[in-house]
Amino acid sequence: MSTLHVIDHPLITHKLSIMREAETGSKDFRQLLDEISMLMGYEITRDLPLEDVEIETPITKMTAKKVAGRKLAIVPILRAGLGMVDGLLALVPVAKVGHIGLYRDPETHLPVEYYCKLPADIEDRFVIVVDPMLATGGSASDAIQMLKNRGCTQIRLMCLVGAPEGAEKVMADHPDVDIYIAAMDEKLNEHKYIVPGLGDAGDRIFGTK
Ligand code: PRP
Ligand code: URA
Repeated sequence: MSTLHVIDHPLITHKLSIMREAETGSKDFRQLLDEISMLMGYEITRDLPLEDVEIETPITKMTAKKVAGRKLAIVPILRAGLGMVDGLLALVPVAKVGHIGLYRDPETHLPVEYYCKLPADIEDRFVIVVDPMLATGGSASDAIQMLKNRGCTQIRLMCLVGAPEGAEKVMADHPDVDIYIAAMDEKLNEHKYIVPGLGDAGDRIFGTK
């Protein structure tokens, strides 16, 4: 069974509150999302296994520890997921980045696939799927399925704001995938937007509305 980790940290809560405010502009919104992604990245990588390596300090030889062979891939769901990539790359600069393009049909609210480009060895990698919004869960669930269809077995989902319905869908569809989220909001409205939420994440990041 997957675990839902709500990352409860005063800095994340504070930054998210500013992002939620309607008057916060794109520049600040992007900057805050970047900072929160880095803070969340610290938690999502907390249990990466370490291995012993022999190194030499200026003083002596020693057995030190480095992150073991499990290579990372970050996979943003376009567009809004792009805003969470740099914060994670700042922590793990050698991670590869794949892209999955999905948009929600405005009538049905179901995800429609329009792009997929992943690292060639994606099936060997520990994959972190990123998208700020987990609303109905359709986009995240489909993106995870696309990765599984390409052989991925180690997948985590990192979102900023979620609705209970979305988390339940991903957990039901993918019980092997843990979810990391900064806040679980109350509900979805009739347009399947998260309430209170922060509006349309893609539009707020890229200033398209
Ligand atoms: C938003 C968001 C998620 C999706 C969440 O993307 O970034 O991908 O909606 O909704 P769901 O959980 O109900 O699937 P959107 O489709 O608006 O595309 P965009 O990122 O290009 O704006
Ligand atoms: N997508 C968004 O960007 N915001 C929501 O609240 C729901 C879906």
